[in-house]
Amino acid sequence: MIIDRRHLLMATASAAIPLSAQTAAKTRTAVIGTGNRGSYLLQAVLDQPVAAVTMLCDIKPDRLDKAATSASRDNPKTTSDWRQVIESDNVDAVFIATPPYLHSEMAIAALKRGKNVYCEKPIGVTPAQVRAVIEAARASRKVFTAGQQLRSIKRLATTVQKIHDGLIGDVVMIKAQRHATADLPHDGTSGDWYFDVTKSGGYLIEQSVHNLDLCNWVVDAHPTRAAGLGAINFYKNQPPGRTIFDCGSITYDYPKGVKMSFTQNVFHPRALPGGGQYIYVYGTKGAVDLMTPAPTFYPIEPGAQPTVLVEKGPPEYAHAHIAAFYAAVNQGGPNPAGIAIGAAAALTAILGHEAMVREKMVTWDDLGVRI
Ligand SMILES: NC(=O)c1ccc[n+]([C@@H]2O[C@H](COP(=O)([O-])OP(=O)(O)OC[C@H]3O[C@@H](n4cnc5c(N)ncnc54)[C@H](O)[C@@H]3O)[C@@H](O)[C@H]2O)c1
Repeated sequence: MIIDRRHLLMATASAAIPLSAQTAAKTRTAVIGTGNRGSYLLQAVLDQPVAAVTMLCDIKPDRLDKAATSASRDNPKTTSDWRQVIESDNVDAVFIATPPYLHSEMAIAALKRGKNVYCEKPIGVTPAQVRAVIEAARASRKVFTAGQQLRSIKRLATTVQKIHDGLIGDVVMIKAQRHATADLPHDGTSGDWYFDVTKSGGYLIEQSVHNLDLCNWVVDAHPTRAAGLGAINFYKNQPPGRTIFDCGSITYDYPKGVKMSFTQNVFHPRALPGGGQYIYVYGTKGAVDLMTPAPTFYPIEPGAQPTVLVEKGPPEYAHAHIAAFYAAVNQGGPNPAGIAIGAAAALTAILGHEAMVREKMVTWDDLGVRI
């Protein structure tokens, strides 16, 4: 093979470019919190051709080592001090996957330092935390995306669009639930924070925030008030010191009088019908079963046949939300779940939680946060 001098020079130059310069063309990315979700996000980041992993952070050395091994392709720097990530000039985007009570402080610091932020849900566990993230995100020119990844599932987007286009008439009511067959393992990876309500926010805020975000999306609004009751009725003092409810029932009121009934528990026997998660959206022309693999419309007329709105297809690209985040950062693409979505989801969950804790009607205005 004959190689001319120009090509030889180019080949030599490229081989001589240090790794740091090669990754500079990519979005230099850090992950703070490399536990269960952080490890998943790290794989998703490694899957993005536009991203390079330059820093990893966790206070648990074993998790940090494991993450560093997964990302060895990019030779990231590791640290147990998240503020080093924020201060680094070698980081353009920060993924935050620490326990929920730490999200707001980390996200705000990252935004103030000019980083793009992908922040796991919930973006905060108190109204004050959410308000502070809203202010920081609005003051920043960078992208802030909440980890409400249901927003990037095409089948849901298609169905929600059909509902917004009038398929079921006016939305009048939602019945939704998130029932699990068991608690999270008490000695699991997140056992040291999950059962402390001040750290996780509780089951509604930490997990049902996804379901509630979907309900907000369908109604195209956030609720105005909520009433509810919750309790620790099954896992009493398990694990010891537990402060999060294991069951609850909340009624939400949305604009135009739309009502939502939401229940949660973590003791639904596997064989008992009616378990798992669902969202039934009732309209004046019929109802939609939204959360199934093939969302379906059931017309109100007696005898009318159900219509499958989106046929069950092959699994969608699992990292679509992360890809959309990078498209927003690099190409000005639409933010898949910006601050308004992340804040409304967190506050909707906080509203329901507050109603259960106070055992009285709580209004959105009581939370004292404007989106
Ligand atoms: N979007 C989703 O579907 C989804 C799924 C699971 C979890 N999550 C969210 O991801 C977050 C993490 O959940 P998880 O299940 O991965 O928990 P986890 O406990 O497995 O991981 C959290 C990690 O954060 C680390 N950490 C704690 N304090 C830290 C600090 N000060 N600095 C750096 N690292 C610190 C812990 O050592 C741990 O490794 C939660 O907010 C959770 O709600 C989202």
